[in-house]
Amino acid sequence: MASGTGQSAPVLQVAGVSRSFRSRQGTVQALKGVDLTVGPGELVGLLGLNGAGKSTLLKIISTLLLPTGGTVRVCGHDVARRPREVQRRLSLVLGGERGLYLRLSARDNLRFFATLTGLKGPDLARRCEQAVEFVGLGPAADRPVETYSKGMRQRLHLAIGMVTRPELLLLDEPTVGLDPAEAENIRTAVSAMRDQGTTILLTSHYLNDIEQLAERVVVLHDGRVLHDLPLPRLLERAKTAAVVTLTGRGTAPPQPPVALDGLASVGTLQQHASSWSLELHVRAWTPESLRHLADLWPDQQLTDVRVAPSGLQQVFMELADDVKSPA
Ligand SMILES: Nc1ncnc2c1ncn2[C@@H]1O[C@H](COP(=O)(O)OP(=O)(O)OP(=O)(O)O)[C@@H](O)[C@H]1O
Ligand SMILES: [Mg+2]
Repeated sequence: MASGTGQSAPVLQVAGVSRSFRSRQGTVQALKGVDLTVGPGELVGLLGLNGAGKSTLLKIISTLLLPTGGTVRVCGHDVARRPREVQRRLSLVLGGERGLYLRLSARDNLRFFATLTGLKGPDLARRCEQAVEFVGLGPAADRPVETYSKGMRQRLHLAIGMVTRPELLLLDEPTVGLDPAEAENIRTAVSAMRDQGTTILLTSHYLNDIEQLAERVVVLHDGRVLHDLPLPRLLERAKTAAVVTLTGRGTAPPQPPVALDGLASVGTLQQHASSWSLELHVRAWTPESLRHLADLWPDQQLTDVRVAPSGLQQVFMELADDVKSPA
C-alpha cells in the first residue's frame, strides 16, 4: 500500500477502522476495515460512489463519530481517547450552507468560531483578518452572511476551517452546488493552504477538484479501500487513452468504424436534424489514427473530430462499472 509518509511522523493514521449503524431496517456496515496513512503536507483525494463511506470516515477522524473497531490517530493522538487533542489539530469543512450565523457578518462569524477554539486578543484579530483575505472575502466581510451567495458562504466555511491553522484539514465536498467560478475560488484557496504545508483530505464528486488538487487518490468502495495510488498511477489505469467524438453532415453512418486501429469500444451515436455525432473510445490516438479514420469514411463528410484524453472522470467511470458488474 502506498503510504506516502516518507520519514516524517504521519499526521493521520487510520488502522482497521470499521463502523456500523443500526437502524430499524437492520445494520449497515459503512466501513469494513479501512487503513490509511497520510504524511505531513500531503493532499489526498478520497473518491467513491454515494454511500462508499467517505463522510463516515471523515466524521470518525474529526471525532464526531466513534469507530466500531480499529484506531485513528491524528498527530499521534487517538480520536477515542484524546478527542480534545485531536480537535485542536484539525478542522472539518462540510459542503452546503449549514452552521453559519446568517444575521452576523463574516468577520463576526469568524471571530465567534475562532474564540470557541481558544484564540483571543491580537492573535484572534490577526488570524481572522488573514483568513478573510485568504479566501477573498475582504470587501464583503462586514455584510450579514444572509446577503451572501452560496459560494461566498462556502468560502466563509473554509476561512473558519483555516483560522486555527489546523495541521489536518478535512474537506467533505467543499464545492458542492457552486458555479464553476466559485468552485475555482475554493480550489485556489485549498491549493494555497496546501502550499502553506497543511495536510488535507478532500472528498468531492467533482473529479475536476481531485484532478487539480490531489497528488494521491484513495478510492473507497463499499466501506473498503479499493485503490490508494499517486494520481498519475491511477490515471494510467484507464483502459482507453481518449474519447474521440466525430461529427458529420447528413445521416449517421450505418456501420461504426470497427476497423479503426486501436478502437476499444463504440460509444453513443446521436442523429440530429442534419448532422450526427459518434463517440469512440480508443486505446491509442496518433496522427496515423486520424488518417485511418478519413480513409475509412471518405464519403461521410466528417465535419469535426474532437479528442478528449482520458482523465480521472474516465478512470472513475470504469472503476464504477467494474465494481457494479465484476468480471
Ligand atoms: N447515521 C447513519 N445512520 C444509518 N446509516 C448511515 C448513517 N450515516 C451513514 N450511513 C450509511 O453508511 C453508508 C456510508 O455513508 P457515507 O455518508 O459515509 O457515504 P459517502 O461515501 O459519504 O456517500 P456520499 O457520496 O453520498 O456523500 C451508507 O450506506 C449510509 O446510508
Ligand atoms: Mg458523503
